[in-house]
Amino acid sequence: MIVNYQLFLVIPPGLEDLALREVELKCPISAVQLHKGGLELEADLNWIIKAHCELKIPTRILMRLTTFKIRDFPKLYQKFSTFKWNEYLSHPEPEWEISCSKSRLNHTGRIEETVKKALAEAMRKQPLGMDWQKKNFGPQTFYIRLVDDNLTLSLDLSGDPLYKRGFQKIKGEAPIRENFAAAFAFEILHDLDSKVTLIDPMCGSGTLLTEALTFFTPLHLRKFSFEEAPFFKGKLVKLETNDNKLPIDHAIGIDLNGELLEKVSKELKENLPITFKHQDSLKEKITRETSVILCNPPYGERIQIQGKRGSFLKEAWEKFIQVDAPLRFGWVLPSDMDDLFSKAAEYRVKSKRHLKNGGMAVTFWIWERT
Ligand SMILES: C[S@@+](CC[C@H](N)C(=O)[O-])C[C@H]1O[C@@H](n2cnc3c(N)ncnc32)[C@H](O)[C@@H]1O
Repeated sequence: MIVNYQLFLVIPPGLEDLALREVELKCPISAVQLHKGGLELEADLNWIIKAHCELKIPTRILMRLTTFKIRDFPKLYQKFSTFKWNEYLSHPEPEWEISCSKSRLNHTGRIEETVKKALAEAMRKQPLGMDWQKKNFGPQTFYIRLVDDNLTLSLDLSGDPLYKRGFQKIKGEAPIRENFAAAFAFEILHDLDSKVTLIDPMCGSGTLLTEALTFFTPLHLRKFSFEEAPFFKGKLVKLETNDNKLPIDHAIGIDLNGELLEKVSKELKENLPITFKHQDSLKEKITRETSVILCNPPYGERIQIQGKRGSFLKEAWEKFIQVDAPLRFGWVLPSDMDDLFSKAAEYRVKSKRHLKNGGMAVTFWIWERT
């Protein structure tokens, strides 16, 4: 019998539409609902496995276990002490992420205390097997969300966030998060008619390039939390082969930090077709063939830049657009600079999306040569 589960894919706000397109391409499923910060859908265990190995934009996947109305602590205790934990629980001391809004129960500390006591009571009636000790399972995380007196209990299926791919350990000082990099690479490249040279002129550890080149590559280089859950029943995770690729002929990463480039290229070895160049990308022309430039430049926050942030970025912008003249140019900038870069001769704004990156409001721009 195939069991379908209610799932919620947590997506960085601003990337929901791209995440939906990614699901449609890689693991299509009917009736996906798009919400701010996530996608809601129903799917079976095989889909959960495939999604964890193949989707690059979600941050994590939650399984919705139950929803009920709640206005007092005795009922909360009763609901949690009679819940069928054995299907889901793999460790006796899970972690709890609790949030409340517009609800009579709004003391997260007291809610946690109550559910912990209720779980201990449930464990007396339906004791947990000893697998967690023998196999050294880690604690799971359950999410309790209370809105308008409606409680939703969800289980985190992913464990470490999915942008921790276990693929590249060496990182520069202000690396872009892998799921942002994957979304940006997908958006700028997916609808091109022919292959291009992808250039990141300020590549740091090269995340934009590695994510672009592996966008369709299934990965299972780390554990996912659901692999320890009872409903998984110790299955094997098999990776499907996938010949799809974003249209990239060759990738070039340029940076001023030669030491970092050396370490990164050593780590990646010959696994990915990237040429790293230690040079100042503002000094000479960096494009030859049909190229797409994609980068996240330093903003002067974590990485210092010479002079004022505005003038450095303006100089970089003029050089990339006027001298390198790529087919498409995409970069992510603080949103307070939106007015500085809104027009460029011979280019049109193809798209502009607003996001939060590490708490900072940023805009991801794509210009296209007209
Ligand atoms: C925000 S970091 C890029 C991080 C990168 N996306 C990653 O994931 O690791 C900006 C990078 O721009 C590089 N940089 C700054 N000015 C440069 C220039 N004129 N030419 C080449 N690289 C430059 C810095 O050395 C730094 O590594």
